[in-house]
Amino acid sequence: MRMADLLNRKKAGKALTDAEIAYFVSGFTAGDIPDYQASALLMAICLRGMTDQETAALTDCMARSGDLLTLSSLHGPTVDKHSTGGVGDKTTLIVAPLAAACGLQVAKMSGRGLGHTGGTIDKLESIPGFRTALSTDAFLRQVERIGVAVTGQTGNLAPADKALYALRDATETVDSVALIAASVMSKKLAAGAAHIVLDVKCGSGAFMETQADARRLAQLMVEIGKRCGRKMAALVTDMDAPLGTHIGNALEVREAMEILQGRGDRALRDLSLALTAQLLQLGFGVSAEKARETAAQKLSCGAAFEKFLELVAAQGGSAQALESGTALPKAKCSRDVFAKQDGCLAAMQTRAVGECAQILGAGRAKKGDAIDPAAGLILHKKPWDFCRRGEPLATLYAADEAKLDAGEARFFAALTFRQDAPQNTRPLVLETIC
Ligand code: URA
Repeated sequence: MRMADLLNRKKAGKALTDAEIAYFVSGFTAGDIPDYQASALLMAICLRGMTDQETAALTDCMARSGDLLTLSSLHGPTVDKHSTGGVGDKTTLIVAPLAAACGLQVAKMSGRGLGHTGGTIDKLESIPGFRTALSTDAFLRQVERIGVAVTGQTGNLAPADKALYALRDATETVDSVALIAASVMSKKLAAGAAHIVLDVKCGSGAFMETQADARRLAQLMVEIGKRCGRKMAALVTDMDAPLGTHIGNALEVREAMEILQGRGDRALRDLSLALTAQLLQLGFGVSAEKARETAAQKLSCGAAFEKFLELVAAQGGSAQALESGTALPKAKCSRDVFAKQDGCLAAMQTRAVGECAQILGAGRAKKGDAIDPAAGLILHKKPWDFCRRGEPLATLYAADEAKLDAGEARFFAALTFRQDAPQNTRPLVLETIC
């Protein structure tokens, strides 16, 4: 087989065979196919697309390029969830202990944030002592013991994806639905869970801006998972505003704990329950109604919060200090920012709010940057709220005043006010795909 033939076929819009895709992935991972040829193929895929069969074959090869986790030693349905990422999305911190409290086995491998806010691992690392680099053995033993563990991805999970993603990042070939689907699903398949629920975001702060694109990505990932023998469902959810009210690593842990204690933002609670209910439907084969009822009951009775504290303690954090509010880091400086006029907050550009969080110190400008676990913001007003002049819109947290100045400017650039008060009729969960 020759790479030139693959490039010509894809350039002409033809489908590659399973064998050709296997040749490409193994050759590239082994270093036999140079970056310039791989980049050319990625660009041709971006422009010409791939069939579902090609995408499934690419996913399968990337998943098999490194370690494949076997979860067969666990007693009970194994589940995983994945979000395509959004500002303020801390649902994993809620869903993982909630699903475990419902009897599911949650062996969760998560990542760090690549963009403006931290990932699940960054958020958990804001809890002093919390270990996020468990060995595979310790990870599995913990799930066996308490039903849940959250760890960073091992270095050898889908290494082909890691290498290809770096190339895509450098060659403007990230935004292909097929390549995104293969990238996400290769890691999910390698992580081993039998039941997978995806949260595909759309809107101003998401990879997919339109609902149609998000639906296409969700359908493709569900199809790939099914072809590879997993039970799958996906929710397409709105990201036209940040999720919940807290953005920033320790702040998001705080908000997740509020939800687990039966308080907090309604939309965040509802989405966490919806995702958990999907996991329960897949894992136990129960009806949607029964699944929702079980999830809501385990949340309201405190079992999910207990499970969260158990998870924290199992991974080295102090559950007691966390519960008493003394564990999480606090920012040196904070500032309330106020409405400059009366009006309805008609829009809050999610991406700009994410950039504000990054400027404050909560996210990375580039890979490897340090993040400030205490930095971020708490929103006091959300889209469609009416604000009076002088009312607090948000509180910003950072290590110094200069960051607060820059963050404040970015925050105001995210807001649009109107004098009338239009109704928001768009639900948070836009579609369910299974
Ligand atoms: N997240 C991933 O893991 N891969 C992509 O290609 C895009 C987002």
